[in-house]
Amino acid sequence: MKKVIVTGAAGMLGTDLCPLLSENGFKVYRTDLYAENQDFDILDVRAEDRVSDYIKEVKPELVIHLAAETDVDRCEKEAEHAFLTNTKGTENIALVCQSLDIPMVFISTGAVFDGKKEGGYTEEDMPRPLSVYGDSKLKAERIVQSVLSKYYIVRAGWMIGGHKKDKKFVWKIIQILKTKKEIAVVTDKFGSPTFTKDFSKGILDIVSTGQYGLYHCVNKGICNRFNIAEKIVEYLGRKDIVLKPVTSEVFPLPAPRGRSESLLNHKLSLMAMDNMRSWQEALKEYVEEGKEVA
Ligand SMILES: NC(=O)c1ccc[n+]([C@@H]2O[C@H](COP(=O)([O-])OP(=O)(O)OC[C@H]3O[C@@H](n4cnc5c(N)ncnc54)[C@H](OP(=O)(O)O)[C@@H]3O)[C@@H](O)[C@H]2O)c1
Repeated sequence: MKKVIVTGAAGMLGTDLCPLLSENGFKVYRTDLYAENQDFDILDVRAEDRVSDYIKEVKPELVIHLAAETDVDRCEKEAEHAFLTNTKGTENIALVCQSLDIPMVFISTGAVFDGKKEGGYTEEDMPRPLSVYGDSKLKAERIVQSVLSKYYIVRAGWMIGGHKKDKKFVWKIIQILKTKKEIAVVTDKFGSPTFTKDFSKGILDIVSTGQYGLYHCVNKGICNRFNIAEKIVEYLGRKDIVLKPVTSEVFPLPAPRGRSESLLNHKLSLMAMDNMRSWQEALKEYVEEGKEVA
């Protein structure tokens, strides 16, 4: 049985990825800052020696590195913490993978771009991050590319998934709608929703090719935050909700966000491997599953 170490396994993505890896015959070593249950090992990716000892002890065939500080505004306010976790943490993993010749998967983000492009960004576009978070992830990408030849960097868009683990827009809107009937949502920020279940399958497909390199993997279509909120309301069947379109000036935030973080799965399309469904289909499934979650 192939052994795989997953860092940050308790987060939004790990919650869907780890069971899928098990179903596909991997022996999964789930690691995170805290052990949620006996299935987890504690592994702080900032702790260089512990990272090295752990990977050497397990001797996996693959490392999938998800661990990150994903709070974009916290990263902006605490840049040292962001670079230590997202950049140095990734370097710690990459160096051990290099010394043991283990392929590594690193998950990155559309926040590496400046958001000025009309339409989606492809793998060929030049990154230019605006935020500390985007910068810390881009620097991590560059380290992975320089240290390793056996790597998969997979960039995701606006992640949706994980329900109670979901710290992002969709789950926040679903929670707000439990108590409010009128909400303001921004129309001037664009992105590509990325359902963790679909993205997890995408990772597995990419890894199975053995074709190392940089990939974008998002659900199909580009939308703004308002479009997503409209669909959430529709899928919840909430005819009583009034959505008010506003610009992002109404919600000032510490971290700058570009106009667009939209991505296109250009490489996967060229390889005839773009199996990602539309963001609307993915969101519908997620919202409907969420009705069962208290
Ligand atoms: N969420 C998005 O919209 C999005 C979009 C594009 C790419 N990504 C990337 O996708 C990956 C997975 O993200 P996600 O959405 O699953 O985020 P998440 O829910 O925040 O999960 C990340 C996990 O990593 C843990 N972690 C934080 N610092 C760590 C450390 N020093 N050592 C070990 N674990 C640590 C977190 O623990 P705590 O919760 O206790 O901090 C959390 O359990 C990340 O690399 C992220 O940058 C995310």
